[in-house]
Amino acid sequence: MLEKITAPSILAQKGQKKIKMITAYDTPSAQIADKAGADIILVGDSLATVILGYETTLSATMDAMIHHTAAVVRAKTHSLVVGDMPWLSFHVSEEDTIRNAGRFIREAGAQAVKLEGGRKRLNVIKSLLNAEIPVMGHLGLTPQSFYTTGGYKVQGKTSKLAMDLVEEAKILSNAGIFALILECIPDKLAQIITKSINIPTIGIGSGPYCDGQVLVFHDVLGLNFGHIPKFVRPYANFSKIGVDALSKFFADIESGKFPADNESYHMDKAILKELTSSLKPKNKKVANLS
Ligand code: KIV
Repeated sequence: MLEKITAPSILAQKGQKKIKMITAYDTPSAQIADKAGADIILVGDSLATVILGYETTLSATMDAMIHHTAAVVRAKTHSLVVGDMPWLSFHVSEEDTIRNAGRFIREAGAQAVKLEGGRKRLNVIKSLLNAEIPVMGHLGLTPQSFYTTGGYKVQGKTSKLAMDLVEEAKILSNAGIFALILECIPDKLAQIITKSINIPTIGIGSGPYCDGQVLVFHDVLGLNFGHIPKFVRPYANFSKIGVDALSKFFADIESGKFPADNESYHMDKAILKELTSSLKPKNKKVANLS
Protein backbone atom coordinates (compact mmCIF):
# COMPACT_ATOMS: atom_id res chain seq x y z
CA MET A 1 0.00 0.00 0.00
CA LEU A 2 1.17 3.53 -0.79
CA GLU A 3 2.28 5.62 2.16
CA LYS A 4 0.07 8.55 3.13
CA ILE A 5 1.41 11.87 1.83
CA THR A 6 2.19 14.39 4.59
CA ALA A 7 2.93 18.12 4.79
CA PRO A 8 6.70 17.42 5.30
CA SER A 9 6.75 15.07 2.30
CA ILE A 10 5.19 17.82 0.14
CA LEU A 11 7.84 20.25 1.38
CA ALA A 12 10.54 17.72 0.44
CA GLN A 13 9.13 17.47 -3.10
CA LYS A 14 10.39 20.99 -3.96
CA GLY A 15 12.78 20.81 -6.89
CA GLN A 16 12.40 17.00 -7.03
CA LYS A 17 8.98 16.22 -8.46
CA LYS A 18 6.08 18.43 -9.59
CA ILE A 19 3.22 18.55 -7.08
CA LYS A 20 -0.19 17.46 -8.41
CA MET A 21 -3.10 19.05 -6.60
CA ILE A 22 -6.85 19.15 -7.25
CA THR A 23 -9.94 20.18 -5.32
CA ALA A 24 -12.60 17.69 -4.21
CA TYR A 25 -15.73 18.14 -2.14
CA ASP A 26 -17.17 14.67 -1.50
CA THR A 27 -16.25 10.98 -1.22
CA PRO A 28 -16.51 9.94 -4.90
CA SER A 29 -14.60 12.99 -6.20
CA ALA A 30 -11.87 12.34 -3.61
CA GLN A 31 -11.70 8.66 -4.67
CA ILE A 32 -11.31 9.69 -8.32
CA ALA A 33 -8.58 12.24 -7.43
CA ASP A 34 -6.73 9.71 -5.27
CA LYS A 35 -6.88 6.90 -7.84
CA ALA A 36 -5.58 9.34 -10.50
CA GLY A 37 -2.53 10.07 -8.31
CA ALA A 38 -3.20 13.44 -6.63
CA ASP A 39 -0.54 14.44 -4.11
CA ILE A 40 -2.88 16.92 -2.44
CA ILE A 41 -6.66 17.14 -2.32
CA LEU A 42 -7.88 20.60 -1.34
CA VAL A 43 -11.40 20.91 0.01
CA GLY A 44 -11.55 24.47 -1.31
CA ASP A 45 -13.99 27.13 -0.22
CA SER A 46 -14.79 27.10 -3.95
CA LEU A 47 -17.32 24.62 -2.53
CA ALA A 48 -19.61 27.67 -2.25
CA THR A 49 -19.55 28.49 -5.96
CA VAL A 50 -18.78 25.10 -7.56
CA ILE A 51 -21.10 22.89 -5.51
CA LEU A 52 -23.55 25.10 -3.64
CA GLY A 53 -24.36 27.59 -6.41
CA TYR A 54 -23.38 30.83 -4.62
CA GLU A 55 -21.92 33.84 -6.47
CA THR A 56 -18.67 34.08 -4.43
CA THR A 57 -16.65 31.97 -1.99
CA LEU A 58 -17.62 34.39 0.80
CA SER A 59 -20.72 32.26 1.34
CA ALA A 60 -18.74 29.20 2.47
CA THR A 61 -19.34 28.60 6.19
CA MET A 62 -17.24 26.61 8.68
CA ASP A 63 -20.05 24.05 9.10
CA ALA A 64 -20.33 23.48 5.33
CA MET A 65 -16.53 23.16 5.01
CA ILE A 66 -16.35 20.64 7.86
CA HIS A 67 -19.26 18.61 6.43
CA HIS A 68 -17.57 18.32 3.01
CA THR A 69 -14.02 17.86 4.33
CA ALA A 70 -15.23 14.93 6.44
CA ALA A 71 -16.80 13.38 3.31
CA VAL A 72 -13.46 13.72 1.46
CA VAL A 73 -11.54 12.21 4.40
CA ARG A 74 -13.93 9.21 4.41
CA ALA A 75 -12.52 8.35 0.97
CA LYS A 76 -9.38 7.26 2.92
CA THR A 77 -7.00 8.75 0.39
CA HIS A 78 -3.28 8.37 -0.02
CA SER A 79 -3.30 12.10 -0.98
CA LEU A 80 -2.84 14.75 1.71
CA VAL A 81 -6.22 16.35 2.54
CA VAL A 82 -6.11 20.11 3.11
CA GLY A 83 -9.13 22.03 4.45
CA ASP A 84 -9.59 25.58 3.18
CA MET A 85 -10.36 28.07 5.95
CA PRO A 86 -13.41 30.09 4.85
CA TRP A 87 -13.87 33.84 5.10
CA LEU A 88 -14.19 35.07 8.73
CA SER A 89 -12.86 31.80 10.16
CA PHE A 90 -9.39 33.37 10.70
CA HIS A 91 -10.12 37.12 10.70
CA VAL A 92 -11.71 37.60 14.12
CA SER A 93 -9.06 36.47 16.63
CA GLU A 94 -6.12 34.09 17.00
CA GLU A 95 -8.14 31.99 19.45
CA ASP A 96 -11.02 31.70 17.02
CA THR A 97 -8.60 30.79 14.21
CA ILE A 98 -7.04 27.93 16.20
CA ARG A 99 -10.49 26.58 17.17
CA ASN A 100 -11.69 26.69 13.56
CA ALA A 101 -8.53 25.10 12.17
CA GLY A 102 -8.76 22.51 14.96
CA ARG A 103 -12.24 21.56 13.74
CA PHE A 104 -10.76 20.73 10.30
CA ILE A 105 -8.26 18.41 11.97
CA ARG A 106 -10.26 16.87 14.82
CA GLU A 107 -13.85 16.84 13.48
CA ALA A 108 -13.23 16.41 9.75
CA GLY A 109 -9.90 14.53 9.80
CA ALA A 110 -7.95 16.86 7.46
CA GLN A 111 -4.15 16.87 7.80
CA ALA A 112 -3.52 20.58 7.11
CA VAL A 113 -5.33 23.85 6.47
CA LYS A 114 -4.96 26.57 3.85
CA LEU A 115 -5.65 30.25 4.33
CA GLU A 116 -5.58 33.28 2.05
CA GLY A 117 -3.43 36.36 2.61
CA GLY A 118 0.07 37.64 3.30
CA ARG A 119 1.67 39.69 6.08
CA LYS A 120 -1.75 40.67 7.50
CA ARG A 121 -2.26 37.00 8.39
CA LEU A 122 1.20 36.38 9.80
CA ASN A 123 0.08 36.29 13.44
CA VAL A 124 -2.69 33.77 12.88
CA ILE A 125 -0.41 31.62 10.73
CA LYS A 126 2.17 31.57 13.54
CA SER A 127 -0.53 30.62 16.07
CA LEU A 128 -1.64 27.70 13.92
CA LEU A 129 1.93 26.49 13.51
CA ASN A 130 2.39 26.79 17.29
CA ALA A 131 -0.67 24.58 17.67
CA GLU A 132 1.05 21.97 15.42
CA ILE A 133 -1.31 22.55 12.49
CA PRO A 134 0.44 22.52 9.08
CA VAL A 135 -0.49 25.59 7.03
CA MET A 136 -0.58 26.17 3.28
CA GLY A 137 -0.52 29.83 2.17
CA HIS A 138 -2.36 31.51 -0.71
CA LEU A 139 -1.20 34.72 -2.44
CA GLY A 140 -2.02 36.60 -5.63
CA LEU A 141 -5.70 36.56 -6.50
CA THR A 142 -7.37 35.77 -3.19
CA PRO A 143 -11.09 35.24 -3.93
CA GLN A 144 -12.10 36.09 -0.33
CA SER A 145 -10.94 39.69 -1.07
CA PHE A 146 -13.48 39.94 -3.92
CA TYR A 147 -15.04 43.19 -2.67
CA THR A 148 -11.82 44.93 -1.58
CA THR A 149 -9.97 44.15 -4.81
CA GLY A 150 -13.02 44.86 -6.99
CA GLY A 151 -13.33 41.42 -8.57
CA TYR A 152 -11.24 38.58 -9.95
CA LYS A 153 -8.19 40.17 -11.62
CA VAL A 154 -4.61 39.12 -12.41
CA GLN A 155 -2.39 40.36 -9.55
CA GLY A 156 1.19 41.69 -9.35
CA LYS A 157 1.18 43.44 -12.72
CA THR A 158 3.24 46.53 -11.72
CA SER A 159 6.82 46.27 -10.45
CA LYS A 160 5.76 47.60 -7.03
CA LEU A 161 2.91 45.08 -6.68
CA ALA A 162 5.19 42.31 -7.97
CA MET A 163 7.93 43.22 -5.43
CA ASP A 164 5.30 43.23 -2.72
CA LEU A 165 4.20 39.70 -3.64
CA VAL A 166 7.82 38.48 -3.57
CA GLU A 167 8.17 40.01 -0.07
CA GLU A 168 4.93 38.45 1.16
CA ALA A 169 5.95 35.04 -0.18
CA LYS A 170 9.26 35.29 1.73
CA ILE A 171 7.45 36.33 4.92
CA LEU A 172 5.08 33.35 4.75
CA SER A 173 7.84 30.94 3.81
CA ASN A 174 10.03 32.14 6.71
CA ALA A 175 7.06 31.75 9.07
CA GLY A 176 7.06 28.00 8.36
CA ILE A 177 4.19 27.23 6.01
CA PHE A 178 4.74 24.02 4.01
CA ALA A 179 3.52 25.19 0.57
CA LEU A 180 2.19 28.30 -1.13
CA ILE A 181 -0.63 28.67 -3.68
CA LEU A 182 0.02 31.40 -6.27
CA GLU A 183 -3.22 32.34 -7.97
CA CYS A 184 -3.44 34.39 -11.19
CA ILE A 185 -0.09 36.15 -11.27
CA PRO A 186 2.19 36.57 -14.34
CA ASP A 187 4.27 33.48 -15.15
CA LYS A 188 7.70 35.15 -14.72
CA LEU A 189 6.70 36.62 -11.36
CA ALA A 190 5.66 33.12 -10.25
CA GLN A 191 9.09 31.90 -11.40
CA ILE A 192 10.89 34.61 -9.39
CA ILE A 193 8.86 33.75 -6.27
CA THR A 194 9.45 30.02 -6.79
CA LYS A 195 13.22 30.63 -6.95
CA SER A 196 13.20 33.01 -3.94
CA ILE A 197 11.65 30.67 -1.36
CA ASN A 198 12.47 27.23 0.03
CA ILE A 199 8.93 25.91 0.06
CA PRO A 200 6.98 24.61 -2.96
CA THR A 201 4.77 27.00 -4.92
CA ILE A 202 1.60 25.57 -6.42
CA GLY A 203 0.17 27.62 -9.27
CA ILE A 204 -3.34 28.23 -10.52
CA GLY A 205 -3.36 30.57 -13.51
CA SER A 206 0.28 31.44 -12.75
CA GLY A 207 2.18 29.73 -15.57
CA PRO A 208 4.45 26.67 -15.78
CA TYR A 209 7.35 27.61 -13.48
CA CYS A 210 5.71 26.77 -10.14
CA ASP A 211 6.65 23.61 -8.21
CA GLY A 212 3.16 22.22 -8.76
CA GLN A 213 -0.23 22.99 -10.23
CA VAL A 214 -3.80 22.97 -8.94
CA LEU A 215 -7.16 23.33 -10.65
CA VAL A 216 -10.77 22.90 -9.58
CA PHE A 217 -12.01 19.29 -10.06
CA HIS A 218 -15.15 20.33 -11.97
CA ASP A 219 -13.15 22.59 -14.33
CA VAL A 220 -10.71 19.81 -15.27
CA LEU A 221 -13.52 17.36 -15.92
CA GLY A 222 -15.76 19.86 -17.74
CA LEU A 223 -18.47 19.37 -15.16
CA ASN A 224 -19.98 22.85 -15.28
CA PHE A 225 -22.03 25.10 -17.51
CA GLY A 226 -20.61 28.53 -16.56
CA HIS A 227 -17.63 30.68 -17.58
CA ILE A 228 -14.30 28.83 -17.96
CA PRO A 229 -11.20 30.94 -17.11
CA LYS A 230 -8.33 31.11 -19.65
CA PHE A 231 -5.99 29.11 -17.40
CA VAL A 232 -8.29 26.06 -17.20
CA ARG A 233 -7.69 23.10 -19.48
CA PRO A 234 -10.72 20.77 -19.46
CA TYR A 235 -9.63 17.15 -20.00
CA ALA A 236 -13.19 15.82 -20.39
CA ASN A 237 -16.72 17.03 -20.96
CA PHE A 238 -18.61 15.44 -18.09
CA SER A 239 -21.54 17.87 -18.45
CA LYS A 240 -22.22 16.62 -21.97
CA ILE A 241 -21.61 12.99 -20.97
CA GLY A 242 -24.07 13.47 -18.08
CA VAL A 243 -26.79 15.13 -20.18
CA ASP A 244 -26.45 12.47 -22.91
CA ALA A 245 -26.59 9.58 -20.43
CA LEU A 246 -29.58 10.95 -18.49
CA SER A 247 -31.46 11.74 -21.74
CA LYS A 248 -31.08 8.07 -22.76
CA PHE A 249 -32.19 6.92 -19.30
CA PHE A 250 -35.31 9.10 -19.41
CA ALA A 251 -36.12 7.96 -22.98
CA ASP A 252 -35.90 4.32 -21.81
CA ILE A 253 -38.27 5.05 -18.89
CA GLU A 254 -40.75 6.64 -21.29
CA SER A 255 -40.62 3.77 -23.79
CA GLY A 256 -40.75 1.09 -21.07
CA LYS A 257 -37.28 -0.28 -22.03
CA PHE A 258 -36.05 0.36 -18.49
CA PRO A 259 -35.89 -1.74 -16.36
CA ALA A 260 -35.21 -4.92 -18.37
CA ASP A 261 -35.79 -8.48 -17.14
CA ASN A 262 -32.19 -8.83 -15.92
CA GLU A 263 -32.53 -5.56 -13.96
CA SER A 264 -35.54 -6.87 -11.99
CA TYR A 265 -35.82 -9.25 -9.01
CA HIS A 266 -37.83 -12.45 -9.57
CA MET A 267 -39.94 -14.52 -7.22
CA ASP A 268 -39.62 -18.25 -6.71
CA LYS A 269 -42.19 -19.90 -9.06
CA ALA A 270 -43.82 -22.03 -6.34
CA ILE A 271 -44.27 -19.02 -4.06
CA LEU A 272 -45.74 -17.01 -6.93
CA LYS A 273 -48.25 -19.82 -7.67
CA GLU A 274 -49.27 -20.00 -4.01
CA LEU A 275 -49.66 -16.21 -3.86
CA THR A 276 -51.79 -15.94 -7.00
CA SER A 277 -54.05 -18.82 -5.99
CA SER A 278 -54.58 -17.39 -2.51
CA LEU A 279 -55.48 -14.06 -4.10
CA LYS A 280 -58.06 -15.66 -6.47
CA PRO A 281 -61.64 -14.72 -5.52
CA LYS A 282 -63.19 -17.58 -3.54
CA ASN A 283 -66.45 -19.17 -4.95
CA LYS A 284 -69.25 -17.39 -3.15
CA LYS A 285 -71.77 -19.76 -1.55
CA VAL A 286 -75.07 -19.42 -3.41
CA ALA A 287 -77.88 -18.81 -0.99
CA ASN A 288 -80.43 -21.58 -0.91
CA LEU A 289 -83.63 -19.82 -1.78
CA SER A 290 -85.88 -22.91 -2.06
O1 KIV B 1 -11.03 27.27 -3.06
C1 KIV B 1 -10.30 26.77 -3.93
O2 KIV B 1 -10.69 25.88 -4.67
C2 KIV B 1 -8.93 27.27 -4.02
C3 KIV B 1 -8.05 26.73 -5.10
C4 KIV B 1 -8.56 26.91 -6.45
C5 KIV B 1 -6.64 27.11 -4.95
O3 KIV B 1 -8.54 28.06 -3.24
